[in-house]
Amino acid sequence: MAESQAAVDQTDRDAVARAAEAQVRATASRSLIGLIREDLSLKARWCYGTGRGVRKKLRLLFTDATLSMIFYRIQQWSRWRGLTPLEFLFNRLNGIFCNCLIGRGAEFGRGFVMIHSTGVVINRLVRAGDFVFLEHQVTIGAERGASPLIGDNVFIGAGAKVVGPVIIGAGAKIGANAVVVRDVPAYATAVGVPAKVVRQRPVPADPTACLHFEDGEDSAAE
Ligand SMILES: CC(C)(COP(=O)(O)OP(=O)(O)OC[C@H]1O[C@@H](n2cnc3c(N)ncnc32)[C@H](O)[C@@H]1OP(=O)(O)O)[C@@H](O)C(=O)NCCC(=O)NCCS
Repeated sequence: MAESQAAVDQTDRDAVARAAEAQVRATASRSLIGLIREDLSLKARWCYGTGRGVRKKLRLLFTDATLSMIFYRIQQWSRWRGLTPLEFLFNRLNGIFCNCLIGRGAEFGRGFVMIHSTGVVINRLVRAGDFVFLEHQVTIGAERGASPLIGDNVFIGAGAKVVGPVIIGAGAKIGANAVVVRDVPAYATAVGVPAKVVRQRPVPADPTACLHFEDGEDSAAE
């Protein structure tokens, strides 16, 4: 019985992994500048609310983790184009200047936002969808040679650890300091050690849109 359940879980994971690879190809077809612009405009909305303006853009440029987000996109773009030395360089620069270690090969879709980058460690096998938001000191790592698969519109709070062959469903929220070792269903909130689901939200009207803008509060430490 346990063996047949494991086989079902593996089939689910394979299907999610195939969808994630298709999403990587879609992201890779976008321009580097386009990806960076979208990341930064989402971060500006998250940190400072709606509205445009030179002051807001300048503020964003000097906000914690913005440099790290740009380094990651150049690293990712370099890999897609087989520019291994450049990929390696930006991976190292991110570690040295931003204390942010995102493995070469880790794939995030469009709209990848880090509020703070310090202490962020991400395994190279991680596959994540569009509109993923991370706080500081988040670890997304491997266990038994397998890494998490993360859906669209996921938020991961400060200090949270997501490890092993888990699937984080679309729209999930992971609480600060949670340790996630089991799958989290779509639109659920998981908190604690080990993380448990404490809240389940309904599927939103437009699940393909970015869902992260209820607050728009000024959450950036500059
Ligand atoms: C989990 C989180 C995203 C809120 O998600 P949510 O779906 O709105 O969940 P709620 O606030 O309704 O909380 C649901 C329950 O989980 C509890 N909870 C929330 N966050 C928790 C956490 N990190 N650890 C333990 N329990 C937590 C709440 O107290 C609540 O419990 P209750 O139902 O008994 O009252 C948020 O609490 C969180 O942890 N954010 C991280 C923010 C962060 O990292 N900030 C750093 C800024 S520098």
